[in-house]
Amino acid sequence: MTTRLDRLWPDPLDGLGDDDVLATYAPPLGESAYRPDAGEVDAGEVDAGGADAGDGAWLRLNFVSSLDGAATREGLSGGLGRGGDKRVFDLQRRWADVVLVGAGTARAEGYGAMVLDDDAVAWRRAQGLAPHPVFALVSGRLDLDPASPIFAEAPVRPIVYTVASAPAGARAALAAVADVMDAGDTSVDPARLRAELAARGLRRIHAEGGPSLAGAFLTAGVVDELCLTIAPTLEGGPAGRIAHADAAAPTGMRPASVLLSGDGELLLRHVRA
Ligand SMILES: NC(=O)c1ccc[n+]([C@@H]2O[C@H](COP(=O)([O-])OP(=O)(O)OC[C@H]3O[C@@H](n4cnc5c(N)ncnc54)[C@H](OP(=O)(O)O)[C@@H]3O)[C@@H](O)[C@H]2O)c1
Repeated sequence: MTTRLDRLWPDPLDGLGDDDVLATYAPPLGESAYRPDAGEVDAGEVDAGGADAGDGAWLRLNFVSSLDGAATREGLSGGLGRGGDKRVFDLQRRWADVVLVGAGTARAEGYGAMVLDDDAVAWRRAQGLAPHPVFALVSGRLDLDPASPIFAEAPVRPIVYTVASAPAGARAALAAVADVMDAGDTSVDPARLRAELAARGLRRIHAEGGPSLAGAFLTAGVVDELCLTIAPTLEGGPAGRIAHADAAAPTGMRPASVLLSGDGELLLRHVRA
């Protein structure tokens, strides 16, 4: 049986052409798709799945990791990902009502404005989505430059989720260019953040990290899905994992799709069991 790769990614790849997907996941279908239990992944088992938090929202995390669990190379995630990962990274943004990142990731990775390319905008319009997702950031200290492209070039007014104890000056400066929302006293409460996004109608929540934010999300139990690229590299060294927090938060997940990209990356999608 041949499993169509595009069926393994109901979101966000539904609506894209076969060629688009197959160009990304270049290996011959019958040869290179990863086969757990010597059988192909059954596309019939793939669905949104996950727990229903009752708010109609869906929170997806996306990460790349090395085989030995490193979330960074020389302090950045970009050195780990290859073509397949970058393609999926872009495609996932197409699906999102809101792209969410922790301030540490925005600073380290040098995020700019959340502007999608013309193809993505056309695809979103065809799906009835807004042309661009909202960009939402999470920060306690509000060490974010209001003049940065994140805000100055934003096609949609960004949101900054912060805490009641955030510095007043930085709050006032950012409020000129973004919606600054309290979602906790001394740390942002992920459940409150999620509920606030859902109340705005931003229910397809796509979180691009980083590890501190992911750890907080896991602790709070708000994660529905993890898309994880396993890069074919061993890194060693001091790099951290894709999630960390003071408290452990074991969360059962089940596989929704497993793909092998032409670049040798395993593209995993797991939803909450
Ligand atoms: N492998 C991957 O796929 C991947 C993905 C993303 C990032 N990364 C890497 O991860 C590293 C950054 O790690 P990180 O843990 O610092 O990233 P992070 O989680 O994006 O940022 C941490 C910062 O976000 C804010 N924050 C997060 N959770 C918060 C909460 N509950 N309440 C209030 N503020 C909160 C705080 O900002 P303030 O300091 O402003 O208060 C905190 O210092 C970078 O090297 C980046 O390249 C890797």
